[in-house]
Amino acid sequence: MRRAAHQIYDAKPLVLDDPIAIPILGREYLPEVERTATKLHKPHSIALRASLVARSRYAEDLLARAVAAGVTQYVLLGAGLDTFAYRNPFSQLRVFEIDHPATQQWKRDLLSINNIAIPSNLTYAPVDFEHQQLATQLKAAGFDASVPTFYAWLGVVPYLTQAAFRSTLALIAQSAPGSGVVMDYGQPRSALPPLEQLAHDSLASRVQLAGEPFQLFFTPIQMAKELAEFWNVEDLGSSELNERYFAGRIDKLRMLGSAGRIVSAWL
Ligand SMILES: C[S@@+](CC[C@H](N)C(=O)[O-])C[C@H]1O[C@@H](n2cnc3c(N)ncnc32)[C@H](O)[C@@H]1O
Repeated sequence: MRRAAHQIYDAKPLVLDDPIAIPILGREYLPEVERTATKLHKPHSIALRASLVARSRYAEDLLARAVAAGVTQYVLLGAGLDTFAYRNPFSQLRVFEIDHPATQQWKRDLLSINNIAIPSNLTYAPVDFEHQQLATQLKAAGFDASVPTFYAWLGVVPYLTQAAFRSTLALIAQSAPGSGVVMDYGQPRSALPPLEQLAHDSLASRVQLAGEPFQLFFTPIQMAKELAEFWNVEDLGSSELNERYFAGRIDKLRMLGSAGRIVSAWL
């Protein structure tokens, strides 16, 4: 919904030009974006939308570079309603959407109801990171572990246990040289200034009410340790992302605060 709102309410040029973001919501969910238009113009809502479009844009910028350098597989871990696969400009790139079985089925129903074609280079693999082996499910889906792969893990890490996070990261770390990963993560409440702690509490209680509580946080130093087996680690906060993607805009779209970060790393 936030990516769809970006297409509708934010000034051009868009940070994430996503012609599928509106159609995938269809008659069931698009009206909510229209109904909540006033709310979507409030500063915190704008900042949340900015962080969501920035993380997808950053992932797709890195993917384009990775493809130019020889990556032939893109794995979306916790794909949600990500639409890259349905507007993939790289015909040689195989895309694997990994998601919790319930979410993946919901997305497939939305794609079908809203007449969005499934490209032949896309494969779905249902996986619950807490209870299933990603490697087994990827293999069953025809994934080739011997070729360089780019993994996007967006909006997922805060919802995982540390064990599920580490086992998935360990699998990524075994990928072919030239592979890479991008993920966003949140800093622990205790690392935030007081006003941001309140914003953190408000978002945390909303996701908890939605049945998916936040449970995993890192400081940048802790994240760097988790990524010890990778090189060329780039860990960006809102000021760097604002400079990269939101500078000179005529609207107020920009990220706020220091809680959310995005990191990429390579093998
Ligand atoms: C906030 S959504 C992010 C979706 C998408 N990556 C994006 O950027 O919009 C979180 C995603 O994580 C997935 N997820 C959360 N816990 C999971 C688990 N244990 N196993 C598999 N997927 C999980 C959810 O199904 C959902 O698709």
